[in-house]
Amino acid sequence: MTAASAWEQVLDYSNRANPYPFHAELRRTPVTKLPDGTYVVSTYAEIASLLHDPRVSSDISRNPAAAAAGATGDDLDGPGMSPTFLSMDPPDHDRFRRIAMRHFGPPTTPGRVAGMEVRMREIVAELIDGMADRNRIDVVDDLAYPLPVTVICELLGVPPGDERRFRVWVDVALQSTDPGLDPETQQKKRAEAGTELGAYMEELVEAHRKSPGNDLLSAMATDDGPEGRMPAEQLVSTGLLLLIAGHETTVNLISNGALTLLRHPHQLQMLRSDPDLAIPMVEELLRYEPPVHFVPFRTALDDIDIAGTTIPAGSSLTLLLAAGNRDPAHFTDPDLFIPERRNNQHLGFGGGIHLCFGAPLARLEAQIALTEFAGRIRNPRLVADPPPYRPSPFLRGPSHLPLDIDGVAGKEHGRPGPGPPPPTPAESHPSPAGTDAQTGPARGLPR
Ligand code: HEM
Repeated sequence: MTAASAWEQVLDYSNRANPYPFHAELRRTPVTKLPDGTYVVSTYAEIASLLHDPRVSSDISRNPAAAAAGATGDDLDGPGMSPTFLSMDPPDHDRFRRIAMRHFGPPTTPGRVAGMEVRMREIVAELIDGMADRNRIDVVDDLAYPLPVTVICELLGVPPGDERRFRVWVDVALQSTDPGLDPETQQKKRAEAGTELGAYMEELVEAHRKSPGNDLLSAMATDDGPEGRMPAEQLVSTGLLLLIAGHETTVNLISNGALTLLRHPHQLQMLRSDPDLAIPMVEELLRYEPPVHFVPFRTALDDIDIAGTTIPAGSSLTLLLAAGNRDPAHFTDPDLFIPERRNNQHLGFGGGIHLCFGAPLARLEAQIALTEFAGRIRNPRLVADPPPYRPSPFLRGPSHLPLDIDGVAGKEHGRPGPGPPPPTPAESHPSPAGTDAQTGPARGLPR
């Protein structure tokens, strides 16, 4: 198989449940040129190096592949909206990221994320209590989606109930990133979602500016800190970036996590008896089943010599983070899920100046959700393995994860929970390619 056809297989929906054999194929040529001129980078050392290379731009308006797909900096973030700092280079990237970060994390606001922990536990407890009388649940709809969406809304100051308004537009915006769609349809979907989301966020920012509360949007909208106030149009696009990035990815981390634990009953039992294992386990999940599989639309600003290839200035790059995460040159037994490996050098949150802004929040949510899932859900069994997947090859995760269960344990009885005797470690590490039990074809339903 040629590297270019391996990439086609990665994008092909029928491989969404298990793209890893095609990643292995791509790693044979660390830097692969596709017929459209894009370079796909798939090995750990090369991805890490390019993530930190100032000759690699995130500015979408410079990217030839984005232009060919009909996307400019403006309309990727929504027509008429400013690009966010995600698609900017220094110095603008650094300035807008700092203004937003002042209200989200240390040193100025060290308590914002930690202060949500009690509330996160409350939300998870309520969600699991709500499963008490059921013998079938859907991890995506009943836990993995409602937790992060509620948390990010409360953090930003988005009124409860607005989720129903923005849900549809966010789905359309995400569909527009599906490389399987023709450029015209992608652009139409982007325009449709961008207009609605932009108008919605503008209204919200204005309301918070006039009547600020104790939330992130109000803080950003009224900040006259050392770097000045964020321009109004930046506030709108940053608000949307945080709202969308703040939940869509974490949904996948929790549902990929539950699926992985069900495929590894020994590790599920270990988490039941030792909740502290959640910390390294979530890091291992970010390596083994990362919610963001690749970073598209980077541009070489200069000729870059790497792994025996010269990437010419002006070329488009795609960094295949998920393949780097399973590079045997960097990780021992990369296709095994080993929570105790205590490795935090995965590429799940990217790297360099664009390293994920919300990582502490996502980690905490996933640690709490998965610990309570392990401790309280009685005898969970997968209804379908693999489950149906969401369409995107880039934000990858199940669209639904139905489980049969025997009810839930009370909060106080959650840990350590009763459970079947753990299988031996040999039984629980059978997956060379990342999906242990391929019992049927993957046929996804959009969520
Ligand atoms: C498991 C959950 C998450 C994963 C896997 C994830 C992954 C990533 C990755 C790979 C990047 C780098 C993108 C690039 O280099 O172009 C990134 C950037 C970013 N993430 Fe996350 N993310 C998660 C959760 C969150 C949350 C909860 C928030 C907000 C509260 C957030 C906000 C952002 C922002 C604003 C950026 C852009 C940073 C910059 O350009 O400087 N993410 N994320």
